[in-house]
Amino acid sequence: MGTIIVQQIDGTTIPIAASPAISLVNTLLSAGIAIHHRCGGKAQCGTCRVRVESANPDKPCVNSITPKEAQRLTAIGAHPEQGERLACQTYISGDCHVYLFD
Ligand code: FES
Repeated sequence: MGTIIVQQIDGTTIPIAASPAISLVNTLLSAGIAIHHRCGGKAQCGTCRVRVESANPDKPCVNSITPKEAQRLTAIGAHPEQGERLACQTYISGDCHVYLFD
């Protein structure tokens, strides 16, 4: 379990609870937060890109990037070294901040 502080495009923030068993994109959608997810969570479109920062820099708050996700992140020009992830491939295991893109 973790708490996500979601920063929306307009700068407002929303705290929501997250389970490590549910993808971040589904967690956001269940909380009523709009996020693109054109391919339905198959790591094929890249429209669910977010940036994730752990609330504790010494403790990761998400699962590792898989080769499939890394391939898509590269294809869309994302910056995983800066915390960019595909929300459909991300599972939250601790407290973190999530930044949405347009
Ligand atoms: S929903 Fe398509 S890559 Fe995540």
